[in-house]
Amino acid sequence: MSVLDEPIYKTDALIAEDIDAYLEAHQNKTLLRFITCGSVDDGKSTLIGRLLYDSKMIFEDQLAALENDSRRIGTQGQNIDFALLVDGLAAEREQGITIDVAYRFFATEKRKFIVADTPGHEQYTRNMVTGASTADLAVILIDGRKGVLTQTRRHSYLAHLIGIRHIVLAVNKMDLVGYDADRFAEIVADYRAFAESIGIEDFTAIPISGLGGDNIASRSEQTPWYDGPTLIEHLETVDVDLASDRRRPFRMPVQWVNRPNLDFRGFAGLIASGTVKPGDAVRVLPSGRTSTIARIVTMDGDLDEAGAGQSVTLTLADEIDCSRGDVLVAADAPPQVADQFQATIVWMDAEDLLPGRGYWMKIGTRTVSATVQPPKYAVDVNTMAELSVKTLGLNDIGVAEVYTDRGIAFEPYADSRDLGGFILIDKLTNATVAAGMLQFALRRSQNVHWQAVEITRDAHAAQKHQAPKVLWFTGLSGSGKSTIANLVEKRLHALGKHSFLLDGDNIRHGLNKDLGFTDADRVENVRRVGEVAKLMADAGLIVLTAFISPFRAERELVRGMLPEGEFVEVFIDTPLEVAEARDVKGLYRKARAGELKNFTGIDSPYEPPEAPDIHVDTTRETPEAAAERIVAQLLGTAA
Ligand code: ADX
Repeated sequence: MSVLDEPIYKTDALIAEDIDAYLEAHQNKTLLRFITCGSVDDGKSTLIGRLLYDSKMIFEDQLAALENDSRRIGTQGQNIDFALLVDGLAAEREQGITIDVAYRFFATEKRKFIVADTPGHEQYTRNMVTGASTADLAVILIDGRKGVLTQTRRHSYLAHLIGIRHIVLAVNKMDLVGYDADRFAEIVADYRAFAESIGIEDFTAIPISGLGGDNIASRSEQTPWYDGPTLIEHLETVDVDLASDRRRPFRMPVQWVNRPNLDFRGFAGLIASGTVKPGDAVRVLPSGRTSTIARIVTMDGDLDEAGAGQSVTLTLADEIDCSRGDVLVAADAPPQVADQFQATIVWMDAEDLLPGRGYWMKIGTRTVSATVQPPKYAVDVNTMAELSVKTLGLNDIGVAEVYTDRGIAFEPYADSRDLGGFILIDKLTNATVAAGMLQFALRRSQNVHWQAVEITRDAHAAQKHQAPKVLWFTGLSGSGKSTIANLVEKRLHALGKHSFLLDGDNIRHGLNKDLGFTDADRVENVRRVGEVAKLMADAGLIVLTAFISPFRAERELVRGMLPEGEFVEVFIDTPLEVAEARDVKGLYRKARAGELKNFTGIDSPYEPPEAPDIHVDTTRETPEAAAERIVAQLLGTAA
């Protein structure tokens, strides 16, 4: 016991040479990543300390020691293990999110281990999901005196959700229940009933005492009735499944295209599943183009074959289009390509999900724009009950439809973490706001095809002798958007241009009369108007829109829907005091009096454009002058 009183976690920070030496020494051992779930009360720290101590580990330290270390997949052929370790968190780390997950390394004679430890109860879901996302196994700790608790169920549900295939039920503190076989059997039976109810097919239960070291590294004399493995034996022998990954069809998300000179073009990445040989027919997704593998290039020379878990550079026999984010797959067994999915989403941000908002979705090595529909339900992680909700908040887990702005190659998360797992990133703050798991593609995404029309948008525009534009006016209520947009349209009309003005107050009487002024409704309001504006631009029109459109994310979403340069953001910049003093519709007075809720500028935010294409300061320029300037700029650029 005395050794456990020592501060075992406090080894010196690692220096790079130590890591190299460590990797060198353990190069040929398989790696098991696991996560420990439980609280201090369950004896988690003691258990981890015990594991590290009993395994006579060579070193252990926290991920922090690798800070500023440039070890990443594909940079060099070496240090792959650390690259893989860091990779699970790379996205979050790049975005500066701090997630409380400590990684520790240790090794035994037979295997090396990375254990993710997610301390604390606060924001438990987020931490645990992060720690679990790369784990092969979860140790669910139970206090033998307390048995299966709500938190046991929550940990197990999350571990299962995140796709951990191996569950160990470590029934701890057996010393405090007199090493009682019946008590152990009772807890195991309780747990089995629960586990089956959520789809966990199998688990290994081990009676232990972290404090006494019973059944951790060596068999305990106190539990003669137990004939299963010790915890370390089990961790050393559990199948890590690379073999089964290799039996699945070949898939490799392309991490980067290596083109040092004109004679060489290689596609570098980590093979997610299957194996590959020179001569194999492959397909590039989502485009579907095919070629054959010419070479498998590594730092140490060409290979005859490579498989799941290896980082390689592949060259193809043909010069076909293939870039970062594409997936190279077996030509005869490609995964599906789709743009609408049902997904499970774990929300990790303090700000709620905004259904309809465009987020960056990072899946494999690809980043696309995606929107999430209002959740079908959220899951109460303590009871597994399905709750009816409108959105998801911090640590909520829900099921919702996700739409991407282009087709992506994917596999259900249950089959492939690499091709089915994703994160969502806020486009403005760059924060990771959610982790998600694709369940399946919605059938309509495969059956609704884009109808190729013969009169193209170019033909429409040519007939009207103009370049289509969307002039997007944004600004506070009463800033003068409608007034100036009107003047602009009158001038365009007089010049023989074909235009149409979409105005907030009017659209809210028809198309959008079901929408109010919550953030979610404003997001949807702007999204729909964006779609309509796009159709009108396709028809060759110069479209003017006058909506507060308070959020940058949605304005950028619309910009992204249109060809480059077609979206012109016009910021009608009127200070709140000025708009409020004018108060043309009397709404500011009402809002101040508390009779109108969620009023922009009062108790609802307005995010001004950071770099508008046209900036109108209404305190310095008359509406007429502004309109003239806008038309001049428009037709100048449109010429
Ligand atoms: S947006 O935020 O969703 O883009 P939109 O431009 O369609 O708003 O509608 C704004 C108009 O609705 C305002 O000019 C005002 O006349 C009216 N209105 C009514 N309630 C509100 C409110 N709570 N906040 C802002 N505008 C409101």
